[in-house]
Amino acid sequence: MCGIVGYVGPREAPPILVSGLRKLEYRGYDSAGLATISDHHVEVRRSVGKLDNLDAMLREQPLNGTPGVGHTRWATHGRPSEQNAHPHRAGKVVVIHNGIIENFLELRHALAKRGRSMASETDTEVISHLIDEFVAQGCGLAEATRRAIAELEGSFAIVVLSESEPDRLVAAKNATPIVLGLGDGENFVASDIPAMLEHTRRVVFLEDGEVAEVTADRALITTFDGTPVERQPKVVAWDAVTAQKGGYKHFLLKEIHEQPQAIIDTMRGRILQEEGGVQLDIEVTDNLPADIKRCVLVACGTAWHACLVGKFLIERLAGIPCEVDYGSEFRYRDPVLGPGTLLIVVSQSGETADTLAAVEAGRERGAPVLAVCNVVDSSIARRAGGVLYTHAGPEISVASTKAFTTQLTALYLLGLSLGRQRGVVDADRGRQLLSDLVAIPALVKEALGREKLIERVAKKYGQAQDFLYLGRGINYPVALEGALKLKEISYIHAEGYPAGEMKHGPIALINEEMPVVVLIPHDAVFEKTLSNLKEVEARGGRIIVVTDAKTADLEEVAWEVLEVPATNELLTPILLTLPLQLMAYHVAVYRGTDVDQPRNLAKSVTVE
Ligand code: M6R
Repeated sequence: MCGIVGYVGPREAPPILVSGLRKLEYRGYDSAGLATISDHHVEVRRSVGKLDNLDAMLREQPLNGTPGVGHTRWATHGRPSEQNAHPHRAGKVVVIHNGIIENFLELRHALAKRGRSMASETDTEVISHLIDEFVAQGCGLAEATRRAIAELEGSFAIVVLSESEPDRLVAAKNATPIVLGLGDGENFVASDIPAMLEHTRRVVFLEDGEVAEVTADRALITTFDGTPVERQPKVVAWDAVTAQKGGYKHFLLKEIHEQPQAIIDTMRGRILQEEGGVQLDIEVTDNLPADIKRCVLVACGTAWHACLVGKFLIERLAGIPCEVDYGSEFRYRDPVLGPGTLLIVVSQSGETADTLAAVEAGRERGAPVLAVCNVVDSSIARRAGGVLYTHAGPEISVASTKAFTTQLTALYLLGLSLGRQRGVVDADRGRQLLSDLVAIPALVKEALGREKLIERVAKKYGQAQDFLYLGRGINYPVALEGALKLKEISYIHAEGYPAGEMKHGPIALINEEMPVVVLIPHDAVFEKTLSNLKEVEARGGRIIVVTDAKTADLEEVAWEVLEVPATNELLTPILLTLPLQLMAYHVAVYRGTDVDQPRNLAKSVTVE
């Protein structure tokens, strides 16, 4: 996820662009860059790291001119470096881009054959070359952009600037947001409203498959095939802070609702539906010896819960025995590792010190190391032998939400990939598992649509002192995750337990005050969990059931039933997690805690 801003009008563009990028820096801060038209020529300034570095560069090498475009990058293809920073220039054209071009390697080879040489490792640069080729053939900038995007596969929001038509910007969108801001004698383009809110509140959202040609006094929208589109502007009533959170009260709630898109981004380009397989393109697993004996999964916090689900997925799909460890335990117990063990580390930030230490332990002992990370080119990603990125976009709120469900998605893909390689999963089963996965984003959306009921339940039980979360099998880690979420943002004591273990101790805690959240999908252990639930009922516990079907036997014992859509057993953790995230959020809001930055916590724990 990157931040995009563009300005066209009589004022000098750079200060407007830098101030717009400041509002978007949360979207990525690997590098930043600007381009303007100055004296009929394109001028570019780019710098690695945060926007302050670009600001410092602009003080030493000032940039003038208008129109202009600016970008803050969250690296997907290519390391964070000046060379990979946007804008990307080719001939007369510069482009900024948010999204992923899936066929960029193919396009790169074709462009190279036509004599074009690339200056970066990014997917974006091919877009500037394609547009420049069409401009060189005599196309107008909007037409050149249309022709170029006809060759692209993937997601993109782009803004184009060219010396050939120095009075305009051209923007185009497919599956990644872009919005136009209409001013008086000046206009704006941005990935998010906050970037232009200090100049205008009149906005027009581009839809997928649309191109906008924006000059100082008009914005002309057409479809990719050139058909004109009429759209009335909307007036947004947001203040700047609300706007940065996309209209949500907290980043946490925004990130919870981003999950359908984040999961799509995790699977994008990796699914081979016809073959019933996946393409992960990770050297470390593609060349894994067939006699690999076991996997060890290591992480901390929420990512450790993802590993517990991952163990289940890999054992079931690939038949490889798995162990799971905390980074902080693993590093000090002289772990037995070698070439026959695949070490899988999971980390949203890629900076967690204990998880990074596990990578080093794996390397020292000659084990192949695979990282599942969100932040591109983070320390863990760089030290591991291969990386499976989750592409969830920046997670700002300290409590992990979309990081967790995208880690589960990535581990499902990994399990399937290993299972296909080892012949444990055949093509038919692979196809079924993939269709189930592809259906998940819509089911996530449906589950999140039941927020009102969850909010009501949160308010009803939000004064409790303790909560117990119970789950079994693949959903036991979800119970742990639900309890962690509640603890960290609402400061209520909560415990997650395997439902079958309850009678060996925790049942002593249950009384009429205790809400007990039970994860009980209609799976192979449904009847077993139901009898655990009855044990709670007999002791007066206030039972909140999270299930995939509101059956009579559940309604009989439960105080509340929170329903999610049904899916295959291996994907139930993704759906059952959602009501728990929303419940923790609404309990925290009800109790008035600092939801996005809970006390004593940090987003990434870079000390041991
Ligand atoms: O960045 P990482 O995934 O390595 O972070 C691991 C934990 O610190 C993290 O999951 C933490 O537990 C979150 N606050 C949970 O919401």
